[in-house]
Amino acid sequence: MKPIAELTPEEAKAELEYLAQELAKADAAYYQNDDPYLTDSEYDKLKHRNTDIETRFPTLIRPDSPSKRIGAAVKSGFAKVVHTFPMLSLGDVFSIDEVADFVMGVKRFLNTAEDIAFMSEPKIDGLSFSARYENGIFVKGATRGDGTTGEDITENLKTIRSLPLKLPTGVPDILEVRGEVYMAKEDFFALNAKYAAEGKKTFANPRNAAAGSLRQLDPKITAERNLSIFAYTWGEVSARQWDSQADFFNHLRDWGFPINPNNTLCANLKEIEQSFNRLMEIRAELPYDIDGVVYKVNAIALQERLGFLTRTPRWAIAHKFPAEQALTKITAIRIQVGRTGALTPVADLEPVNVGGVMVSHATLHNEDEIRRKDIRVGDTVIIQRAGDVIPQIVGIVPEKRPADSVEFVFPTVCPVCGAHAIREEDEAVRRCTGGLSCPAQAKERLIHFVSRDAFDIAGLGDKIIEDFYAEGILHNPADIFTLQERNGGDDLFSAAEGLYLERKEGWGKKSVDNLFKAINAKRTISLPRFIYALGIRQVGTATARLLAKNYGRFADFMQDMINKETGKLVAIDGIGASMATDMVEFFQEQHNLDIINRLLRQITVEEFIDTSRTDSPLSGKTVVFTGTLEHLTRAEGKAKALAAGAKVAGSVSKNTDFVILGADAGSKAAKAKELGIMTLSENEFLDLLQ
Ligand code: IVH
Repeated sequence: MKPIAELTPEEAKAELEYLAQELAKADAAYYQNDDPYLTDSEYDKLKHRNTDIETRFPTLIRPDSPSKRIGAAVKSGFAKVVHTFPMLSLGDVFSIDEVADFVMGVKRFLNTAEDIAFMSEPKIDGLSFSARYENGIFVKGATRGDGTTGEDITENLKTIRSLPLKLPTGVPDILEVRGEVYMAKEDFFALNAKYAAEGKKTFANPRNAAAGSLRQLDPKITAERNLSIFAYTWGEVSARQWDSQADFFNHLRDWGFPINPNNTLCANLKEIEQSFNRLMEIRAELPYDIDGVVYKVNAIALQERLGFLTRTPRWAIAHKFPAEQALTKITAIRIQVGRTGALTPVADLEPVNVGGVMVSHATLHNEDEIRRKDIRVGDTVIIQRAGDVIPQIVGIVPEKRPADSVEFVFPTVCPVCGAHAIREEDEAVRRCTGGLSCPAQAKERLIHFVSRDAFDIAGLGDKIIEDFYAEGILHNPADIFTLQERNGGDDLFSAAEGLYLERKEGWGKKSVDNLFKAINAKRTISLPRFIYALGIRQVGTATARLLAKNYGRFADFMQDMINKETGKLVAIDGIGASMATDMVEFFQEQHNLDIINRLLRQITVEEFIDTSRTDSPLSGKTVVFTGTLEHLTRAEGKAKALAAGAKVAGSVSKNTDFVILGADAGSKAAKAKELGIMTLSENEFLDLLQ
């Protein structure tokens, strides 16, 4: 990266634009999808680079600059809660020198030479919540959201047992207690182990697990997860009864809130440093993840004098821990083959303890990543865990490379089945071309087929699938539904001594019966689940739903795909050409058709009936928006149409029922006229919805 002092204004402008985009993407992944792909330190690096460039070129600060944001937009599905007092963020520093600067700044601001007391608190790596009490009764829970508006998680918070729902008498009439929801390491490992055994996707770290568990539209799911809280600050309060952070903690304790036992009052910078070092030392042994230490001016009178910068208090700061790193050696590089044939390289490591977690593998992502970092078997590497359980390889230690080391050659054939592994021009991954004849793909496909969002057959965990596949009992999804029949039948499956499955080690009549029960319960399946279960490349749950909504019947979808008829497909808003290609290709493969036909003889795929609304004149109709709307944004227009049971398409075709014309409507309006399709003005559209 070019030093900031050497950037020209043009370069700075371009880089700020790039950083705004990258950080917005990362924010969305973190806040909206609970599925971050940048490590904290990678994220911090980008964010700091952005601030540093802005400091040198203040006139280039963008209206959408990441420095003006502290979170991402509110995920839809939850009601919104506007915070009476914004939920702020903290500035962060990475060294004790910077902490010293911060303390100096506070003293200078207050114009005092005397020591100032700070509360030192572990920075819990979870997600913040606000709990509102009226007359001592818990009435509303919210996430931070973007700091101004959060999500209503009242019912979810209620399921956390350590959150008091009723406070003792004497508390302020209005009281918002804020703190962190987290998942203890132990609970996190147990949850992931359970998910892994069931073939479900596991969480990358306790923070994601906590976020994913709390932000559940169905609070029953939250209740099944073990979540915990620590309280550490307040929002709106009708009459404050405390005059320092320490005093506030005493109140919280009296009221029954969990507070962190390591919160320590520090008289001066020296004690702050001691508290930091102590927390660093015990960090790995703590039952929950912390990613730093927060220092807050203890006296509220002083906090009030210090006030706030734009989004952060001037009286508090977060001192972040460095990412946990360790050195170890790569003993092998293995290639894993996934459901769609993607070859993923994984490094086997000499096991090493990284911040309390034993690590023995790390993903190498793809071919290019290995080349970029020049990673070889035998190399000593720096691995890092930044709150993440899945470790990253930061880089190699060149001095420790053995003399006989050789460059890693990425295979061009599948290591499992030997078929060619090819790389499409614009893709980072290399894929095995073996399809279902590749055992790795076949197994992964079976695992996907029975997974939570697909057929959801809990009795068929990964291990059982592995076993059954190896024994030749299960080759493809259709075999699942003939298992019972074959178990008693005349093929190699049956044996004189009794039924095959019942005689398997570890199995008995009861477990076999349960398995068949679980399978038979899924002989009728909804269309979106069925489409998703097929495992077509790029077709996730959301796309499967869109397809179900637009086609209604599986046979119609399949017919179009077999005939390579993609007109209707690409007209669906949210489905692009590359997805369409993958879908058509899937249905051109004879073995896929064979499996589907065998499946359809065993199971019933329900017709998709749109329940959104059937009394609306738009219900079941296909609408297209064009031009600029006056009263609604495009997104609102679409949302309204979908809520009224309509399908929204991106282009006009003979299947379109209505075209909604905004200002300056162009070619789509002309097309509608040409095809004789009814057009509506924005107002007419709104009237129809009434
Ligand atoms: S105080 C105005 N105290 O860190 C003060 N925050 O970057 C606002 N956090 O959003 C927060 N432990 O999610 C505070 N002891 C603690 C904390 C803490 C964790 C999180 C919190 C906040 C973020 C700030």
